[in-house]
Amino acid sequence: VNWTDGEKQHITSLWAKVDVTKCGGKALGRLLIVYPWTQRFFTKFGDMSNSGNVIGNGNVVNHGRRVLTSFGDAATNLDNIKKSFASLSKLHCKKLHVDPKNFRLLGDILMVVLASHFGKDFTPACQAAWQKLVCVVAHALAHEYH
Ligand code: HEM
Repeated sequence: VNWTDGEKQHITSLWAKVDVTKCGGKALGRLLIVYPWTQRFFTKFGDMSNSGNVIGNGNVVNHGRRVLTSFGDAATNLDNIKKSFASLSKLHCKKLHVDPKNFRLLGDILMVVLASHFGKDFTPACQAAWQKLVCVVAHALAHEYH
């Protein structure tokens, strides 16, 4: 994957402003509400019987922060994404058995969360760069599947 200077600039400057707890928790919470089958991977998180319980669930917030922090490793290491996600890809495939389609879903939801959080600062050019990033991350996470 090649990144233009403009794309790199859009990704790193937005990333510097992202609150990983707030946005990560929101993104994972939305995934669990909008695509409820994803809850089956997180039964140990406890009560997710309605959307309020998902949003207010501390385990969801904590895990959302972990996931978004890991996204940040991609944002700050754009030229090495496939390599740096290889072991996470193995984990999601061999151990967790997560269908890789779900990576795209989470990526798209993250876009919605960033757009609603940053409003007009999330310009079309910034959106395009981030859309590319979430696709590259989803692709890297699916890379070790067979
Ligand atoms: C665990 C990242 C998507 C299910 C993790 C961990 C990270 C991570 C960093 C912790 C790994 C560790 O403990 O060493 C990501 C990223 C995603 C993503 C960057 C971006 C697309 C998903 C999706 C699902 C999922 C879509 C399911 C629908 C899980 C599960 C765990 C996990 C079940 C283990 C949780 C636990 O037992 O604590 N992920 N993940 N992940 N992920 Fe993902």
